[in-house]
Amino acid sequence: QPPKPLLGKRVLITAGPTHEPIDPVRYIANRSSGKQGYAIAAAAAAAGAEVVLISGPVELRAPAGVDLTRVESAREMLAAVQSALPADVAIFAAAVADWRVAAEGEQKLKKGAGGPPPLQLTENPDILATISKLTEGRPPLVVGFAAETENLIDNANAKLARKGCDWIVANDVSPATGVMGGDRNTVHLLMRHGEATDLESWPLMTKDEVATALVARIAQAMAV
Ligand code: C5P
Repeated sequence: QPPKPLLGKRVLITAGPTHEPIDPVRYIANRSSGKQGYAIAAAAAAAGAEVVLISGPVELRAPAGVDLTRVESAREMLAAVQSALPADVAIFAAAVADWRVAAEGEQKLKKGAGGPPPLQLTENPDILATISKLTEGRPPLVVGFAAETENLIDNANAKLARKGCDWIVANDVSPATGVMGGDRNTVHLLMRHGEATDLESWPLMTKDEVATALVARIAQAMAV
């Protein structure tokens, strides 16, 4: 492999959680450190790609040579992704909140005699599915993530079909694995070609090693 196998390629990556506002001072979020997505951005930049990283709120610095856009909510993330297209590869590593509060309070909700406010939730856009199903301007390689706590491969296979992406990076995020917030990850790569799906299971690696291996795999796939 040449030292810069992704030279001339534009790679879009989402990372981190999203924050969904309840009112001006409160939000709903999920556990995501952003480490895996940021590591992929760094590895893609090191491989010579032009990298656009669209990140929810995390406590990480922008990797060198990466164009970073920070967003808060799922809807902002989708808008940022759409305006960052076209791309040769899109990797959706963000842990997007599935729901947001239907009617975000314009003022801070107050404690009162009426008890806690009911929070009506509504579905967020699915960014991965939206981009995978584009009929015009779909990135040629769309990679999603499947973080599961059970039936990992079955769930990941179902997700591959449902979302319409090309590859899924599946990882077990059961609390005992320490993946969430940790520095290591065990992943399985599901790659769809037409009706068939190839499965590669990788050993326990650091998130940086997973990122380097994924970028190498992408470069290999794009070279053929
Ligand atoms: O359905 P689930 O959230 O498990 O799917 C995970 C994959 O879908 C990840 O790649 C994640 O970034 C992406 N996703 C998304 N937008 C959502 C929900 C998930 O892009 N609203």
